[in-house]
Amino acid sequence: MDFSKFEDRFTRIDLEIQRLLEDKEPKKLYNASNHLTKAGGKRMRPLLCLLSCESVGGDFKSALPTAVSIELIHTFTLIHDDIMDRDELRRGFPAVHTVYGESTAILAGDLLFSKAFEICNPEIAPLLGKTTSEICEGQELDMEFADRDVVSEEEYMEMIQKKTASLFAAATRSGAILGNGTKDQVNALADYGINLGLAFQIWDDILDITADEDKLGKPVGSDIIEGKKTLLIVVAISKSPKSENLIEILNKKEKSKQEVGRAIELLYECGAVDYCEDKVKQLIKNAHLALKKIPDSKSRDDLGDIANFVVQREF
Ligand code: IPE
Ligand code: IPE
Ligand code: MG
Ligand code: MG
Ligand code: MG
Repeated sequence: MDFSKFEDRFTRIDLEIQRLLEDKEPKKLYNASNHLTKAGGKRMRPLLCLLSCESVGGDFKSALPTAVSIELIHTFTLIHDDIMDRDELRRGFPAVHTVYGESTAILAGDLLFSKAFEICNPEIAPLLGKTTSEICEGQELDMEFADRDVVSEEEYMEMIQKKTASLFAAATRSGAILGNGTKDQVNALADYGINLGLAFQIWDDILDITADEDKLGKPVGSDIIEGKKTLLIVVAISKSPKSENLIEILNKKEKSKQEVGRAIELLYECGAVDYCEDKVKQLIKNAHLALKKIPDSKSRDDLGDIANFVVQREF
C-alpha cells in the first residue's frame, strides 16, 4: 500500500509530537520519550483516527489532538512492553531501556501517557482512560498466560482484545465522534477498529516467526523465547499430537537457537500458521462488513485498503 498520500497527515502528527517533546528539560527524560518517534513506526492508529473522522464527513483537523494522544499512548505501551518482554530492538533501533536505562524508560512511558491526556480533545479523555486501563489488563494477562501450560483460544482473544484491539477501536471510535458521525456510524467504525485490531495482533504473532528481522525492526522469535501464548502456540497445543515437544521447549528458561527453530517448525507442521492466517482473513472480512455501514467515500476506501494492508504487511 502506498502511504505517501497520507504524508500531510503524518507530518501534522509528528510536528505536534515534536512540539511536546523536543528541547525540554530534563533532556535525558525527554530524549528517552522521543526516541521511538524519531526511530520510525507506521503511525497506524493516528491515521485510523483521522480517516475515521473524515469518513463521517468531518475535518481531520478536529481529530488531530486525539490522534496525537493515541500515538503517544501507543508509544508509551511500546516502551514498557519492551521492558516486560525483555526485547532490545524496536523500530530497527535499540529499545529505550537499553539506551537510557530501565528507570528513565519507565518514566519516559509515564510522561507520554500523561501528555496524551494533557492534549486530547477533552470529551475523548474518558474513552482514552478506559482504553488504557484495558491495555494494562491485557498486558497483565499476556504475562500471566506465559506461565500457564494451557490457554484457550477464547482467553487469548480476550487478552488481545484488551492489549491491542481496544486502542484500534478507540482510534476509530474517537475519530468518528469528533467528525460528528451518527451513533450508527460511530458504532460501525468502532466495530471495524476492533476486528482490525484483533487481526493486527494475530498477524503480529505470525510475523514473530516468519518475518525478516531487518524489515520487522523487532527481534524475531521473541515470543517463543519468552514463552508467550500467541495464537499459534494456543492452537498448536490444542491440536497437535507433537505439542509435548513444543511445551517442553517453551518451558525451558534458556532456549538455544536450534530449539527456537524447532518450535517454529512444529508450528508450521501442525497447521497452526494456516489456522491463524484463516482467522485473520475472517476478521478482516468482518472489518470490511462493518465499513459497509458508513457512506461510500475516499476515506472509507482508504480504511478498506488499510485493512487489506494490515494482513499483508512484512513489518
Ligand atoms: C506494535 O504495533 C505493537 C502491537 C500491537 C503488535 P505496530 O506494529 O503498530 O508498531 P509501530 O508503531 O509501527 O512501530
Ligand atoms: C504488544 O504485543 C501489545 C502492546 C500493547 C504493546 P507484543 O508484545 O506482541 O508487541 P511487539 O511484538 O513487542 O510489538
Ligand atoms: Mg513485545
Ligand atoms: Mg508484549
Ligand atoms: Mg509481537
